[in-house]
Amino acid sequence: MKPLDKIIINKDTSFNPIWIMRQAGRYLPEFKQIRDKNPNFINLCLNEDLSSEITLQPIKRFDLDAAIIFSDILMLPYGLGQKVEFQKNFGPKLGELNLNEVAKIDEIDFVEKVKSIYKLIKKVSSDPCLNDKNTIGFIGAPWTLLVYMINQKSPKKNLKENFFKDKFLINRILLIIEKFLKIHIKNQIDNGANVIQIFDSWAGLLEEKDLPNYVYTPTLNLVNYIRSLNIPVICFPREIKNYKEFCDIVKPDAVSIDYNVDPKKILRDIKIPIQGGLDPKVLLTDKETLKKEASKYLDIFRDHPYIFNLGHGVLPETDPNMFEYLVKTVKNY
Ligand code: CP3
Repeated sequence: MKPLDKIIINKDTSFNPIWIMRQAGRYLPEFKQIRDKNPNFINLCLNEDLSSEITLQPIKRFDLDAAIIFSDILMLPYGLGQKVEFQKNFGPKLGELNLNEVAKIDEIDFVEKVKSIYKLIKKVSSDPCLNDKNTIGFIGAPWTLLVYMINQKSPKKNLKENFFKDKFLINRILLIIEKFLKIHIKNQIDNGANVIQIFDSWAGLLEEKDLPNYVYTPTLNLVNYIRSLNIPVICFPREIKNYKEFCDIVKPDAVSIDYNVDPKKILRDIKIPIQGGLDPKVLLTDKETLKKEASKYLDIFRDHPYIFNLGHGVLPETDPNMFEYLVKTVKNY
């Protein structure tokens, strides 16, 4: 049994596996070297030789228990024909969303555009260095993808005015997103992904009254779909106000928590396996503080099935030596 399955399926509390969101990325010099030669981020994601190499970079350097595939949640709008670009110091920039064009895309068109992602998964999941480790596939949750597709850039703290104005557009797009996410998930699993994580990075932007429509129902549909394929699913509804209600309704196999939530309250409220929580900024301090803060999470979740991770992605300015120290701290706990 692979490390994450021991926690998620067997509810093992005797050890804590570790992987880190954005473990393959800009804090690693070997990534920056490849990135500098490949200015187009989407093309880099679609180059299965380079994206599999990047996926394995952190695995070769650190004693991690899982690889997350090097890709992006925005490959879904890309596959649906919406223009997606990444500009330096700006983040993602999406083109105009044309419902008529998007509605014409069928499964064959979509898979044709993103099939290198499935080749990358096939390649890495069969690599001997992942024999005893998980290969994590992922998607953006429907709500977070809707945010990017309509907002056309990261919303920071607010959505653009009139975001909800065109209900017809929103409802149609949500259904299209859900249909293609299922296709994307199935292909990732068929090619070797053995855990799926759903990133709902903007769940915290919604008022409570809108959660059922935009977060609970569409995410539940996907969780049920992944479960029907017999693969564990971890949900990360970042900054959602009520993790307990989310877990009670959506019932993922494990839940990943952000760094603003009180881990002791989570332990009291939530019975399913838990992942993450540590503030990525702690990696920018010193070893003593890092050990103390990481141990806090390990102590709190000592008798609960717990996968070590951060409360959001590792920051680009992180020193790889601090990353390594964190992995060692968790392994030696
Ligand atoms: O975790 C990993 O190592 C796997 C790869 C991965 C990336 N993006 C690569 C990436 C994963 C799992 C993602 C998920 C993702 N992408 C999310 C959900 C998690 C989160 O951060 O909330 C979101 C919202 C996106 C969309 C996205 N992609 C943004 C907002 C940005 C720009 C900001 C940033 O953090 O750089 C990206 C670009 C991106 N995706 C990079 C990487 C390594 C940086 C690209 C670069 O080199 O410039």
